[in-house]
Amino acid sequence: MNSAPPTVLCVVGARPNFMKIAPVIAALRAAPFNLRARLLHTGQHYDVAMNERFFEQLGIPNPDINLEVGSLSHAAQTAEIMRRFEPVLDEEKPAALLVVGDVNSTIACALVAAKKGVPVAHVEAGLRSFDRAMPEEVNRVLTDQLSEWLFTTEREARDNLLREGIADQRIHFVGNVMIDTLLGHRARAVPAAETLAAAGVDPGLFLDAPQGFGVLTLHRPSNVDDPAVLQRLLASAQKISAQLPLVFPAHPRTLGRIEAAGLRDMLSGPRICCLPPVGYLEMLGLMSAARLVLTDSGGMQEETTALGVPCITLRENTERPITVTHGTNTIVGTDSTRIEKAVADVLSGGGKAGRLPELWDGRAAQRIAAILHASLVPGTSAARVAAQSQ
Ligand code: UD1
Repeated sequence: MNSAPPTVLCVVGARPNFMKIAPVIAALRAAPFNLRARLLHTGQHYDVAMNERFFEQLGIPNPDINLEVGSLSHAAQTAEIMRRFEPVLDEEKPAALLVVGDVNSTIACALVAAKKGVPVAHVEAGLRSFDRAMPEEVNRVLTDQLSEWLFTTEREARDNLLREGIADQRIHFVGNVMIDTLLGHRARAVPAAETLAAAGVDPGLFLDAPQGFGVLTLHRPSNVDDPAVLQRLLASAQKISAQLPLVFPAHPRTLGRIEAAGLRDMLSGPRICCLPPVGYLEMLGLMSAARLVLTDSGGMQEETTALGVPCITLRENTERPITVTHGTNTIVGTDSTRIEKAVADVLSGGGKAGRLPELWDGRAAQRIAAILHASLVPGTSAARVAAQSQ
């Protein structure tokens, strides 16, 4: 007699979760695993530009459940997700909860599940910036402590987890699901010229500039919440743009801070193109065509490494060291001199070429699905096939 496949309840909340969940849901649902994957959206991100556009472009199924929590303080947002999630978990009774990344939705749902005895799978486990001032670092450490399956993207993550007392057999080095998505969608990237033209900008000003153009993104609280830091970063951007025009798709939080600090004029020249948040395929097209990327995003450090485009990270540390040791990433912090020197180095022919890290091969989600299937449906032929593919 065939019994129903076990349910894996998958959680997303914020923009960087969407590119991670897309290949995982597809792999869980497909043969030979055929698990019942359900999708829950906490509603942490809700704007069309931060949300629906990613679902459409990445072919993510509509969420089965949406908690519609919206923007609140960290404590209130985390608490509200937990409050709304508990009855849903009671109703769904999944065999496992799968969370990705390090946002507030990740820790909130993992904590509820762990306390209810539902085992948690964490995709992108073990990354550490060792900077507890970053809310994401707190979320990472705590989610890993609560997880039964810890899926890692790079080898160093295992050492971080072992140091924190996590049992070795719970840790699985599977590769990078975000790179599964990148490799799967690269051919469909929207050309940079189209994105610029759609924004009413002459693409030639950027694409035909002698050194090409750079992409800038900023959204970390440490970079955008303090007006003095924000002003310093925008002043550097202005200076750099004299040599290298910049395309700056801005997070709503960042735009809000720029307006509130009265800094909008710093973006008014023709050599900085400030756009509202762009979709996944637009960003992929912009990054692929760029001479370099300046960012404080975690995901873009990895995506530029996969694309072979130099990345200058506007943070003091990274939780993704492989992008520095193997990839194209250079960490410079927020000091103007260091930023401008790093840009000059790239433009004068430097810039790291990098190489693709181990297992960033487009098959990470398959490996995750195989391991979960083997745990949740032991002794089946699919489990045996899966075990052989490890
Ligand atoms: C969150 C994640 C961060 C991730 C980032 C990507 C946490 C702790 N942080 O930060 O790790 O890199 O997402 O975007 O979970 N807002 C909108 N529309 C939206 C969403 C947010 O206007 O759809 C504005 C609101 O003013 C909100 C602010 O952005 O207060 C911050 O949103 P929030 O989800 O709290 O954090 P992010 O900065 O987006």
